Amino acid sequence: MAKKDLVYFCNECGYESAKWMGQCPACKSWNTFVEEKVEKRTHSSGMSGMANDPKPVSLGEIDMGEEDRVLIGINELDRVLGGGIVRGSLTLVGGDPGIGKSTLLLQVCRQLSAKGMNVLYVSGEESLKQIKLRASRIGDMNDRIKLLCETNLGDIENVIKKMKPDMAVIDSIQTMYDENVGSAPGSVSQVREATGVLMRIAKEMGVSIFIVGHVTKEGTVAGPRVLEHMVDTVLYFEGDRHASYRILRGVKNRFGSTDEIGVFEMKNDGLSEVANPSEFMLNGKPENSSGSIVSCSLEGTRPILVEIQALVSRTSFGFPRRQSAGSDTNRLNLLMAVLEKRLNMPLSDQDAYVNIAGGIKITEPAIDLGIVMAVVSSYRNRPIDDRMAAFGEVGLSGEVRAVSQVAARVGEAAKLGFTTCVVPTVCMDAIKGIKGIKVIGVRNISEAMELF
Ligand code: TYD
Ligand code: MG
Repeated sequence: MAKKDLVYFCNECGYESAKWMGQCPACKSWNTFVEEKVEKRTHSSGMSGMANDPKPVSLGEIDMGEEDRVLIGINELDRVLGGGIVRGSLTLVGGDPGIGKSTLLLQVCRQLSAKGMNVLYVSGEESLKQIKLRASRIGDMNDRIKLLCETNLGDIENVIKKMKPDMAVIDSIQTMYDENVGSAPGSVSQVREATGVLMRIAKEMGVSIFIVGHVTKEGTVAGPRVLEHMVDTVLYFEGDRHASYRILRGVKNRFGSTDEIGVFEMKNDGLSEVANPSEFMLNGKPENSSGSIVSCSLEGTRPILVEIQALVSRTSFGFPRRQSAGSDTNRLNLLMAVLEKRLNMPLSDQDAYVNIAGGIKITEPAIDLGIVMAVVSSYRNRPIDDRMAAFGEVGLSGEVRAVSQVAARVGEAAKLGFTTCVVPTVCMDAIKGIKGIKVIGVRNISEAMELF
């Protein structure tokens, strides 16, 4: 039995409430609640295809077989997925409109079909002609790729049942609708229900399904966060739309590690892999200029060198401005306070801006030392040696603390021709074997200041 009810959902995170609220208590975003009619079911419907007489099993009874994975042949993507696509998995690819989700997935279709697999590309957004136009930019496609313009999930399910593809792409989840749900496509309940149906199809038929989800800040379309917990793998495509590189970040992965990133460049013939992201990120680094230093962040298993730029200038207002792009502004405030207290640097009347060049976002505290050195370099207007890289976490007493994977980071710097690397002293033991680069250990930020 079903009973229609009015509920309110947060468009950002899917939080459900019986009354409207200005701010979502779960994700704290404002003005995201929308009213939706939902059918309250008396029993749960999620995985309705499952047997009605469930039987628990012991771990020993489970036959692992060999893990059914297919390498796509796009290394950057294979690594983010944890070694290729798992058969019967449901993967969400989220990102801003126009970032290149459809392009990436069409390239995946092309690779898999070239390996002899059957793939289905369902588009609810573009016409067949538009898809063909995009495909012609990417390269030759064979006939094992089938296209379908459809938004009705029931019909899509029938097509998948008949065609039995190895992989299917649903572009995008916000355009799909299930007839059994009353609300409009893109609403929270519709998006959730549609994902549930796709999950069932993926598991029952062993089809690997990729779904595209647009990230939206406003409007009545539910964001992909709503379904993050339902799918096996969540990948986010980020990067500046106006710059050519794109970063694919694994946020959740039931079959591998998260935090891996893949770097791509959008070219005229689709996305191409960037095998050496450090080189890419350091492109255009100014020489002999103050306020710039290279630091190293570990993204998943891979060290990436980034240029940290800082600009410190006298504030013209009573209250100094601190802003950071690509790293946490609160962290910048904290590091400025540490500099002020531990090095007696009068920074309270200085504006400070920090930018991670290339637009990559870094949350790892290992770049603290880089930020501190860039800020001091800009404040004193003294350039840092161009061939020097620095990393380490800075604590509240001004101490430089240990970071993980020091050897990999120093190795990456050496590979790209850096001659000096400043690291936390406590990590010096870990890098004894590395040759071709001078390693300087620092215990605290005042020792780091002596390097200027
Ligand atoms: P698209 O994959 O349609 O983005 P999404 O599906 O995430 O909305 O990519 C759109 C952008 O990529 C568009 O601005 C055009 C550009 N593009 C290229 O620069 N080169 C190419 O080969 C292709 C196919 C697209
Ligand atoms: Mg698209």
